[in-house]
Amino acid sequence: MNTPIRVAVTGAAGQIGYALLFRIASGAMFGPEQPVILQLIEAPFEKAMKALEGVAMELDDCAFPLLKGIITTDKPEVGFKDANWCLLIGAKPRGPGMERADLLKDNGKIFISQGEIIDSVAADDARVAVVGNPANTNCMIAASRAKRLPADRFTAMVRLDQNRAQSLLAKKAGVDLTTIRNLFIYGNHSPTMFPAFAHATIGGKLATDIVTDSAWLQGPFCETVGKRGAAIIAARGASSAASAANALVDHVRDLMTPGTVHSVAVKSNGAYGFDPNVWAGLPVRTTIPGSYEIIQGFTMDDFAKSKIAATNKELVDERSFVAEMIA
Ligand code: NAD
Ligand code: LMR
Repeated sequence: MNTPIRVAVTGAAGQIGYALLFRIASGAMFGPEQPVILQLIEAPFEKAMKALEGVAMELDDCAFPLLKGIITTDKPEVGFKDANWCLLIGAKPRGPGMERADLLKDNGKIFISQGEIIDSVAADDARVAVVGNPANTNCMIAASRAKRLPADRFTAMVRLDQNRAQSLLAKKAGVDLTTIRNLFIYGNHSPTMFPAFAHATIGGKLATDIVTDSAWLQGPFCETVGKRGAAIIAARGASSAASAANALVDHVRDLMTPGTVHSVAVKSNGAYGFDPNVWAGLPVRTTIPGSYEIIQGFTMDDFAKSKIAATNKELVDERSFVAEMIA
């Protein structure tokens, strides 16, 4: 039996937490041979902690063979202690009519102290995945507070956007979505994100040779993917939860699976024209479990360059907006 992985989850009693924890405990994130200990962190409010108690009771009641322990706490220094993975979900979601960047001042400060605490108490191999919005910039804030853990351990989630793009493109092309490859999300998890369709393939052929309607690809395709979160809020009255939890399972599982190629928001290295100080959605290849390299060398046409410039500008502006939170 492998040694259990310690997985810390903030916002564990929230909507995404509720859709996520049972999948982690069932083995969907780390595989059917890998036991886990869940370290569940909530905000220090009676209502939140009571709800968390209920979630822990339900986890017990599932009798998951891989679940070797549950810690519930409102103290991040307890919840992050020795954690191998820290999944940072706990933050306010936006409501109708808001953009994710509207959450920046309120949510950003959560990630100052969480970055510092993770850096001081988490395991030496700790890895962090940020979901709480605005995810890219929150991730940058947390990473900036870390002195022990290198910046490449801090990633933010754009996998939901990749999954949305894949599903939409498959419907348009009338193909099974598993035939799509190399459809990556560049930039911010916001309406400026760029689902770069020009390198995508369908059944080994360029997607643009199959979906030849370039006006649709440049217009409604990019726009629908970019605004899907708002469309779900408008329809459900609450932000996406099950699909977000599912995307986080994909994000972490693929970062633990060598050879996998996927979209992750990581610290830019200047590739594709991104400012080197922002966390941008980029194509990565997992090298060894938990580590990755940015895939370079995709050629960008003028349309792609202009989309990347716009999303990069937004990330740089967000960074200036929270300058006082960055160490
Ligand atoms: P929710 O309100 O249902 O749950 C959030 C939970 O976080 C609450 O239980 C709250 O008590 C807790 N919390 C707040 N501050 C905390 C803190 N400092 N420490 C620990 N817990 C804390 O919200 P949700 O629907 O689960 O969404 C959570 C976040 O994820 C939001 O910011 C939302 O916008 C974001 N989100 C991101 C993506 C993405 O693709 N990156 C997708 C969906 C949602
Ligand atoms: C999403 O993309 O569904 C989430 O980021 C929630 C939101 O505010 O859009």
